[in-house]
Amino acid sequence: MDKKASFKSTVCVTGASGYLASWLVKRLLLSGYQVIGTVRDPGSLSFLELIIFTCQLNYTKSLLIDLFFLSYVLWPIFRSMTDETDNHEKLKHLWQLQGAKEALQLVKADLMVDGSFDDAIMGCDGVFHVASPVLGPKSNPKAEILDPAIKGTLNVLKSCKRSSSVKRVILTSSSAAVRVREDFETNVPLNESSWSSVELCQRLQIWYALSKVEAEKAAWEFAKENAMDLVTVLPSFVIGPSLPQDLCSTASDVLGLLKGESEKFSWHGRMGYVHIDDVALCHILVYEEPSAQGRYLCSSVVLDNNELASLLGERYPSLPIPKRFMHLDRPYYKLDTSKLESLGFKFRGVEEMFDDCIESLKEQGRVF
Ligand SMILES: NC(=O)c1ccc[n+]([C@@H]2O[C@H](COP(=O)([O-])OP(=O)(O)OC[C@H]3O[C@@H](n4cnc5c(N)ncnc54)[C@H](OP(=O)(O)O)[C@@H]3O)[C@@H](O)[C@H]2O)c1
Repeated sequence: MDKKASFKSTVCVTGASGYLASWLVKRLLLSGYQVIGTVRDPGSLSFLELIIFTCQLNYTKSLLIDLFFLSYVLWPIFRSMTDETDNHEKLKHLWQLQGAKEALQLVKADLMVDGSFDDAIMGCDGVFHVASPVLGPKSNPKAEILDPAIKGTLNVLKSCKRSSSVKRVILTSSSAAVRVREDFETNVPLNESSWSSVELCQRLQIWYALSKVEAEKAAWEFAKENAMDLVTVLPSFVIGPSLPQDLCSTASDVLGLLKGESEKFSWHGRMGYVHIDDVALCHILVYEEPSAQGRYLCSSVVLDNNELASLLGERYPSLPIPKRFMHLDRPYYKLDTSKLESLGFKFRGVEEMFDDCIESLKEQGRVF
């Protein structure tokens, strides 16, 4: 039987080793998909790289013999040596996922290298473009965050266009592409029609939000020009267990909060929160649901940081969670998620997302 036929279909997930993407890969594998994950550093030589390496060695002075030697001797030895540690530490959690050995393949791709995603996307039915820098830039916002987000998104979409097999693309945007505005009525919840103000993001130097607005806008323009079926998911702050060993920037902010650090959450002021599993399930729902179209806000609850602190303080009295945060003069907002809920989606509450997050941090020995 054709191996592909035993899977629901084949999809690509960009930035597969990241916090959210890893969880999405886990959910896709459990749902029966074959997953091609892209990573910047797969950590071991690919077959193609080994071919190039062999050709360069030109060991027997005959390319044909070299390739025969490579296919039947070198490659099997190489695979048997690398299988157990397939790739390095950073990818270990992906190979430990249920079904990974049979249905996961990792391919090297970089947002800043033109055409880098062609191989990964070729032959896929769907693409989940999750990769985008989340760290605050150190010195050069354009190079560190804006270009990889905006040019990188177009790079991925161009690969999707080149592959005739891709039927739908799901882009992970963010509620940061909706809520950074000053000009709205605070008693009317923000919905998918709202866009963060580019001018405000630039003035306040909120580079992450700027990167998400500009990347999503560029994606919509590209999709319109190329008649591409694009759906975007806009999660608020993602809370839950981290599969990667190294915590991403948002997960380490949460760990900081649970250990008594207040500065980063002070800056949040008011923020939406959502369970990581809900975000992954939402991506899959809008990929599978034929009627899904446009943008989907994905957020369970919006809380002021003082509300969050008192809720967490009461629920986890043994943790040194800050009692109060500095007051910031930010507009009050709510998020209207009825569009996603009209597809039958139900969000988990804030208690469950923090319970699951804290339980996993305890298992990892990061909080006690
Ligand atoms: N966490 C949240 O609260 C949240 C909320 C809303 C939306 N989102 C969105 O969710 C997505 C994933 O974020 P995350 O929280 O999971 O953060 P993360 O763990 O830092 O994941 C970011 C991913 O992007 C990849 N990436 C960055 N620059 C790249 C480049 N030049 N080429 C290829 N890959 C690159 C990273 O790859 P490396 O591992 O190689 O660095 C990593 O896999 C992002 O689009 C983010 O905007 C996150």
